Amino acid sequence: MMRTQVAIVGAGPAGLLLGALLGQAGIDNVIVERSSAAHVLSRIRAGVLERGTVDLLRRVGCAVRLDAEGLIHEGIDLAFDGALHRIDLKHHSGGRTVTVYGQTEVTRDLMEARSALGQQTLYEATDAVLHDIGEKPRVTFQKDGREVELACDFIAGCDGFHGVSRQSIPASALRQFERAYPFGWLGLLADVPPAGDELIYARHERGFALCSMRSSSRSRYYVQVDASDRAEGWSDDAFWDELRRRLPESVAGQVTTGPSIEKSVAALRSFVVEPLRHGALFLCGDAGHIVPPTGAKGLNLAASDVHYLFEGLREFYGERSTGGLDAYSAKALARVWNAERFSWWMTSTLHRFPDQGEFGQRLQLAELDYLTQSDAAMSALAENYVGLPL
Ligand code: FAD
Ligand code: DHB
Repeated sequence: MMRTQVAIVGAGPAGLLLGALLGQAGIDNVIVERSSAAHVLSRIRAGVLERGTVDLLRRVGCAVRLDAEGLIHEGIDLAFDGALHRIDLKHHSGGRTVTVYGQTEVTRDLMEARSALGQQTLYEATDAVLHDIGEKPRVTFQKDGREVELACDFIAGCDGFHGVSRQSIPASALRQFERAYPFGWLGLLADVPPAGDELIYARHERGFALCSMRSSSRSRYYVQVDASDRAEGWSDDAFWDELRRRLPESVAGQVTTGPSIEKSVAALRSFVVEPLRHGALFLCGDAGHIVPPTGAKGLNLAASDVHYLFEGLREFYGERSTGGLDAYSAKALARVWNAERFSWWMTSTLHRFPDQGEFGQRLQLAELDYLTQSDAAMSALAENYVGLPL
């Protein structure tokens, strides 16, 4: 039997960041990950980091490449009615900015730092089962054809929306809040220069589109598609055509097309469970909540959960006080619900809904029009987009 202080289930950004913070504080931890490291790194997801997320990565010494290669963005563009409207995030948020740096790179940096420090991540550890999560918890799993048992003081459930941690909590102990959206995002990654210097969130009668990037030579684009669409059903040409149709002409003309490196569909969902703790098990990141990607909050919320949980664990091991751990769920949920509201609002304002009708379309345009004229509305967008304080 293995033993550690904190067993972390899942080596996504939440699990790896928590492991790095705990390791730095001298708190022993083991990460148990179902997939291979290569598979974890193959998933193209978030691209926008709030300042709080960047600060956490700096604190654990994992921001050298981020500080060298991350792109600082001071604004975003909204596109509607054939025109671009810039929102000056920096001006409207008291000087704050966001950093464009891919989730894949964050994960890679955290993985490399972890292995350099000799901290344990067990990849391809399948069939994880959580036992006795009320107290004296254990995690069992299959590794290299053998069953392994890991005893611990606490379990951090960082295993994403489809993980085992949330499902290990009795249904009667959780409340679930959910909204599914009747569409998805088809994303395409390509080694072509981005259409502009900043991100463009576009509302169009045919549906939403987003121009994002990973570097000055790598672009990430998204188009709203039917929830049932498969990436295989979309050729690269069809994607580029649809993207350009949804952008103002001046932007469409700046889109450089090229072969896709990756193409995938993500479903859009709002989801929260309460509380984020059951006994010695704490849920972090997507294991406890999902936001639709509009507004780029998913990864940043995972980081803020980790921050609160780490503070609680540090207090426990340093001072034998459970105060921080007892406060974890309420503290994390307060921030989660703010991001849920913002992501829902941004999704509702920019997407085409099957049942919105012409009245709904006019309301969207009025909302966007107001947004680009009113300092108060721009400030409300900016302070949420750059990230509310931890
Ligand atoms: P995850 O990244 O999901 O990591 C969970 C880890 O746990 C995975 O490595 C998984 O293999 C592992 N795991 C799962 N089950 C088990 C198990 N039983 N045992 C052991 N390990 C297990 N956010 C944005 O801000 N912008 C975006 O554009 C964006 N796009 C997205 C696209 C998709 C398809 C998805 C699914 C999410 C997207 N998100 C986006 C959200 C963002 O990527 C997530 O919020 C973020 O990855 C959450 O990190 P996490 O560590 O909590 O979970
Ligand atoms: C990206 C994803 C988002 O959800 C978003 O709001 C902005 C950028 C991206 O993948 O680059």
